[in-house]
Amino acid sequence: MKAVIIGAVLCVAAAERRFPDGFKFGTATASYQIEGAWNASDKGESIWDRFVHSRPEAISDRSNGDVACDSYNNWREDIQLLEDLNVDFYRFSISWPRVLPTGFANRVSEDGARYYGDLIDALLERGIEPVVTLYHWDLPQTLQDLGGWTNPLISDWFADYARVVFDLYGDRVKTWVTINEPTVVCDIGYTGHIAPGLESEGRGSYLCTKHILLAHAKAYRLYEAEYKPQYQGQVSLTNQMMWFEPETEEDAELTELVKAISIDRYCHPIFSAAGGWPPALERYIAQKSAEEGEPRSRLPPFTQEEIELVRGSYDYLGLNHYTTRTVRRAGAGEEAGTFLFDGFQELGVVLGARPEWPTTMSHWFMVHPEGFRALLSYVKQQYGDVAIFILENGLSDAGTDLDDQPRVDYYTNYLEQVLLAMEQDGVNVVGYTAWSLMDNFEWMDGYQ
Ligand code: GAL
Repeated sequence: MKAVIIGAVLCVAAAERRFPDGFKFGTATASYQIEGAWNASDKGESIWDRFVHSRPEAISDRSNGDVACDSYNNWREDIQLLEDLNVDFYRFSISWPRVLPTGFANRVSEDGARYYGDLIDALLERGIEPVVTLYHWDLPQTLQDLGGWTNPLISDWFADYARVVFDLYGDRVKTWVTINEPTVVCDIGYTGHIAPGLESEGRGSYLCTKHILLAHAKAYRLYEAEYKPQYQGQVSLTNQMMWFEPETEEDAELTELVKAISIDRYCHPIFSAAGGWPPALERYIAQKSAEEGEPRSRLPPFTQEEIELVRGSYDYLGLNHYTTRTVRRAGAGEEAGTFLFDGFQELGVVLGARPEWPTTMSHWFMVHPEGFRALLSYVKQQYGDVAIFILENGLSDAGTDLDDQPRVDYYTNYLEQVLLAMEQDGVNVVGYTAWSLMDNFEWMDGYQ
């Protein structure tokens, strides 16, 4: 009897705990991770094609995305999976060199344009909304050869590409994501661990940060001026946001600086009222640069005009979240590790984890659901009541157990924290995206 009553109470509680009407659920993929067909038709080479072919040892199982899930050929099956899951939307990305084989907007690939057009049409026919990312890391190699994201002209090349895509699909796509995770592109991309495989932490990475923000803003302004009046779509970018906890109370101040370099460096210019770099971080890097004998700060300044261009270039705030890490100062002679994965050299910080947090198949990724709520509250506190669209969240495991209870638990517990953030902290979350629709090429971890 008691069990029945407790069960009934739990049921009532569970029944009351629901996401509000209109809250959208979906799932995501990215072009390089699923499409394969890396050289089909007239597709250009991307930096990921070049990276995996020239540096196979950089991928843990020496695999690559040449075939991946073969979604270039099997996309109808992907759509069937989405239908079976009953999602509201599907987030996928467009491969820049598949649409623009030269990287530039001088020539649009008919096959590339048709591929994404067919996918979008088939989704809409089934009542699944396409959420389209313009850049999920597969830069045309031709542009990399000209400096890639460190070349200031790239913001115009990106806007040219965006115009081609808006012209092709703007009538059917209402939610756009310009750039996926600039911090991975710019910071991990310049540690040598992922494409383009260059090592220029704290210099190339900051040039990239500035230019990728400008690229996003130019694409946003283009849409705002020329497409939004007609199509009424929404545009933003999505940032990777880990949550950070001080290892001990003494690390509290340092942890704020870690949030500034990791979260706010990409958010403050766009979502804050003042715009520009987070002031405390800007001061820190300027001072450190001076101490190192640099003639100017390694963090390139924005002009006033650039601040205005970038500030407010959003219709929602995209957020990808997986994990929480602890923060401590590196000891004497201790190396701070790779950006974001193990530490922050700029700040002399080492990242760790509490022993009770379960580990996953990704070395940087520990399970701590409460961190999600804390992160969401932080974002609200920093940037106000902006509509937050969670564009990635999920668990990596070895894929050996199809009855994957840890994944079920992960989603249950992380979603509960999202709900708590909404109900208790008044955070305005509008949608949730599970990463991923299917097992795929997980960058430097290959298919492991
Ligand atoms: C994100 C990335 C995805 C996926 C995910 C899982 O950083 O955007 O492409 O790989 O991590 O690790």
